[in-house]
Amino acid sequence: MKSIIQCCLLAGCICLAVLCGTATYELTSSDHPHKWEKLYLVLEWPVTICKMSENDCRDPLMYWTIHGLWPDKADECNRTWHFNISEIKDILGDMEHYWPDVLHPNRTKFWKHEWEKHGTCAAVLESLNSQKKYFSKALELYKEIDLNSYLVKLRIKPGGTYQMADIREALTSVYQVTPKIQCLPPDEGQLQVIGQIKFCLTKEFALINCTESKSGSSFAHENNLFKTEDLAKCSDTLTDYPSHMRTWEHFLANTVDIQ
Ligand SMILES: *[C@@H]1O[C@H](CO)[C@@H](O)[C@H](O)[C@H]1NC(C)=O
Ligand SMILES: *[C@@H]1O[C@H](CO)[C@@H](O)[C@H](O)[C@H]1NC(C)=O
Ligand SMILES: *[C@@H]1O[C@H](CO)[C@@H](O)[C@H](O)[C@H]1NC(C)=O
Ligand SMILES: *[C@@H]1O[C@H](CO)[C@@H](O)[C@H](O)[C@H]1NC(C)=O
Repeated sequence: MKSIIQCCLLAGCICLAVLCGTATYELTSSDHPHKWEKLYLVLEWPVTICKMSENDCRDPLMYWTIHGLWPDKADECNRTWHFNISEIKDILGDMEHYWPDVLHPNRTKFWKHEWEKHGTCAAVLESLNSQKKYFSKALELYKEIDLNSYLVKLRIKPGGTYQMADIREALTSVYQVTPKIQCLPPDEGQLQVIGQIKFCLTKEFALINCTESKSGSSFAHENNLFKTEDLAKCSDTLTDYPSHMRTWEHFLANTVDIQ
């Protein structure tokens, strides 16, 4: 008798496991590209990205650049919709300037990755349903958010160290929403290093507060081309905003859109 009950329990467990497995499978994003809820405009600090890379990267850009425009909870939604650089030939100048691959000379690979992983999911929106629209929209949002200018106005300068709470409050005062700020965790005896800022947007491209995700799941779709999965939520401590250049004047001379 006992063994029959055990057997039934075991069978039940196996059934449950199979059902759960199926349910999880059914919820994977690529089967339901419409399931995503918000967008992240992800901006990165090239000096930190270079720091994280084993590549030789001696002369990083000194302005925040675009990493991507990512739907939450979805990637690789249409594997047959391939990246085609001819589709964005009209905006290549801006792409190279504001959306460069800070580590690899062949930036095409980076844009291809971003389109195929994230763009094909974003494309369920009519406003983003072509490569031209997707990349143009990200550039437009980047210019509207204008992070480089605001950081200068807030006197948050590369080469400085800042309390993370002060950076967060300063950004919230400008944007009226709190973005997600990610850091390279500190090496022993050193400070954490600011690396990436994610602005959260509705499907209508309105800025919203980024709510903390309970698990680490938001890191699941980090871009492995850049090893940015090493970035974590910043702790509320002193933070390095690194510069490879010696003077602030040099930074001003090399950054974009100061006004
Ligand atoms: C995937 O992309 C291809 C090529 O653009 C398109 O023909 C097809 O309709 C897309 N499929 C879905 C499910 O959107
Ligand atoms: C790429 O896009 C161009 C311009 O829209 C088009 O003429 C060409 O056929 C496309 N190539 C492929 C392989 O789809
Ligand atoms: C750059 O990468 C793309 C996409 O992977 C590839 O098609 C192209 O041939 C590469 N260009 C060079 C110059 O290596
Ligand atoms: C974001 O959160 C702040 C503080 O919690 C709040 O004052 C603000 O109204 C929120 N903004 C939006 C757009 O929801």
